[in-house]
Amino acid sequence: MLPNVLLPNATDHVPVLANEVRESLGVRPGETVVDATFGAGGHASLLASELQGSGKLIAIDRDPSVATYFERLEKTSRVQMRLLRGDFGVVLPQLAANGVRADAILLDLGVSSMQIDRPERGFSYSVDAPLDMRMDPSAPVSARELVNESDERELAKIFRVYGEERYARQIARAIVKRRRSHPFERTGDLVDTIKAAIPAPARFGDGHPAKRVFQALRIAVNDELGSLESALPAALEMLRPGGRLAVIAFHSLEDRIVKRFLRDLERGCECPPDFPICVCGKEPQLRSLSRKAIRPSAQELATNPRAASARLRAGTKT
Ligand SMILES: C[S@@+](CC[C@H](N)C(=O)[O-])C[C@H]1O[C@@H](n2cnc3c(N)ncnc32)[C@H](O)[C@@H]1O
Repeated sequence: MLPNVLLPNATDHVPVLANEVRESLGVRPGETVVDATFGAGGHASLLASELQGSGKLIAIDRDPSVATYFERLEKTSRVQMRLLRGDFGVVLPQLAANGVRADAILLDLGVSSMQIDRPERGFSYSVDAPLDMRMDPSAPVSARELVNESDERELAKIFRVYGEERYARQIARAIVKRRRSHPFERTGDLVDTIKAAIPAPARFGDGHPAKRVFQALRIAVNDELGSLESALPAALEMLRPGGRLAVIAFHSLEDRIVKRFLRDLERGCECPPDFPICVCGKEPQLRSLSRKAIRPSAQELATNPRAASARLRAGTKT
């Protein structure tokens, strides 16, 4: 049995697109920075150092085990720091409603290396472990409940929409059949069922055969897209004029939400294109820092392959 205590070690998360995040957020001394996905504090540490001893850092994470990393950073940092535990989709709207304002906000979405590499968290398809996948271990629904209690159509929809899994229906059917006699308890049981449900050639295709189903379950268990949808408008509300927002997404579903959000704010006017003049009066609220998402350099990929799917989008509040 692995210890539950999270000690900083070799599997610590390496912050992705670190320089690009620093440049996009352009933090200056005296500012208030919000890192809404604190993790191991890699980005937070870089941003805190930009404050040069004057300013505030508000850290948010729904995983209580990040407290160890927060305490470590707090000891070495010269700025005022606070850790708020919770879902950024709830915490950011609460902060905004309470009048908390910020100059720079970062969301580095998804799971951290510590979460993936700790088998007992059940995120990984490569190690047999309890089927869990909750970023917040006190959340009411784990992957175990979802897999054992959702009906076949619901499961197929999760796999198709969140995992873009081609064999979603076949996998959902196989899961429902197996759980009648053997409810799913472990990731290994799920991996075996997925492998058996898909045609043999597909088992050797694009990555691990369970990759897409595991991604889909993780997104559903943690309501990742719902949290992002609630967080973005709250982040914008919190930003002072001239404040910067940066978001790193790791799959196309998240990136699409971020891209659409930034584009709508940048456009302002919502009048139909055939209107001779603007009657809606909406002004652009944000200026994107680059038209295209920023991707990791070849150099970064050589040292951190986990950064491969990262896409950074950022904007400045007008
Ligand atoms: C990719 S890691 C961030 C790593 C961090 N930037 C670093 O450099 O160490 C994502 C972190 O965000 C947290 N997280 C993901 N979704 C969240 C949400 N909706 N609310 C709060 N925390 C969330 C995860 O628990 C994880 O610790």
